[in-house]
Amino acid sequence: MLKGKHIVLGITGGIAAYKSVTLLRLLVKKGAEVQVVITPAGKEFITPVTLSALSGKPVICDFFTANTGQWNSHVDIGLWADAMVIAPATACTIAKMANGVADNMLVTTYLSAKAPVFVAPAMDLDMMAHPSTRRNIDTLRSYGNHIIEPVEGELASHLVGKGRMEEPERIVEILDNFFSTPQPLKGKKILVTAGPTYERIDPVRFIGNFSTGKMGYAIADEAARMGAEVTVVSGPVSIKPDEASVKVIRVESARQMCDQCTALFPDSDIAIMCAAVADYAPAEPHTSKIKREKSEVPVITLVKNPDIAATLGQAKHSGQIVVGFALETDNERENALDKLARKNLDMIVLNSLRDHNAGFGTDTNKITIITADGSDTDFPLKSKPEVAKDILNAITAL
Ligand code: CTP
Repeated sequence: MLKGKHIVLGITGGIAAYKSVTLLRLLVKKGAEVQVVITPAGKEFITPVTLSALSGKPVICDFFTANTGQWNSHVDIGLWADAMVIAPATACTIAKMANGVADNMLVTTYLSAKAPVFVAPAMDLDMMAHPSTRRNIDTLRSYGNHIIEPVEGELASHLVGKGRMEEPERIVEILDNFFSTPQPLKGKKILVTAGPTYERIDPVRFIGNFSTGKMGYAIADEAARMGAEVTVVSGPVSIKPDEASVKVIRVESARQMCDQCTALFPDSDIAIMCAAVADYAPAEPHTSKIKREKSEVPVITLVKNPDIAATLGQAKHSGQIVVGFALETDNERENALDKLARKNLDMIVLNSLRDHNAGFGTDTNKITIITADGSDTDFPLKSKPEVAKDILNAITAL
């Protein structure tokens, strides 16, 4: 998949720069066209002659070529790139990238690049663990850059820990995978609900459930990788999407989730209802804490929450797809088919709590996909990201 791709390889001043030679060699062998941009400190570790001989192009370091006065256009290089890979990325360059400090050709090119950027940090373990480095890396991630985390092992300092740049073979594999991921959902807007809802009893207590949001967030991430514009309406969870492009709207109750979904749905192509929505909420939540000593055993009167999937199922117009989930403990197929029809869904994803390692909080799931036109497919136990791919492929087929 790298054949003919334009790759800008950014090299900074770290000892791992010697591995960039192998990385360059592997990229060229795969058929990529590589333009090396190196920082002044990078040149202290690896000579431009080696890099230009392997890439077949002059190595760019300065804004101007000293002997000719020729201007090296960071804008043109940034626009030429199909991907930019900064390997190794030192703590200093990462900090400059996070803060837009454009004082060298590499950071300036990074700021101009429209293509996806991959950053492979390499540094000593304490520098890597420092809160400022972690914060800068998180900032780069939030900009949508792909961080290729360093691995554990012996470092140039002879200390052992996390800080070794990922091996060139693995970096090439990551790039290859990136370019080979098909984008069948490009141009589609997808709404995903995820996590539990909390229904307040009083300011400190709620009715909720064991959902962790893992399945919904895995679907959101995978849909983004397949090119979709994704919004997650999420109940209270402790996780975040991996993909920076995924937008998250946080809500607490079923009512709030319903309001957000009904507002977003008219502009969505696909709605995937993965949240474990509480069916009932206390009719009159107490505004102050219910006290044990002062009160009788409280009786909590419940009222029905709106059925979000059914609301969207009724509202959908031709071309829109609504997908539901059915997490069942018994009469699984019968209940799933009933929900598919009752909520006017196009597809339902059935999973059973009777299956070991499936359902709430696990990293795996075992599903059956049933569509409104009668197809019915069982899948084996898989990781939630793999399950997300199966669900999205089934939606794409619809
Ligand atoms: N759902 C929803 N709003 C609700 C309840 C459920 O959007 N108030 C959605 C879920 O996100 C899921 C599907 O409907 O996609 C089925 O959820 P489930 O809780 O299994 O269905 P219920 O209709 O609540 O049926 P029951 O709890 O009786 O099994």
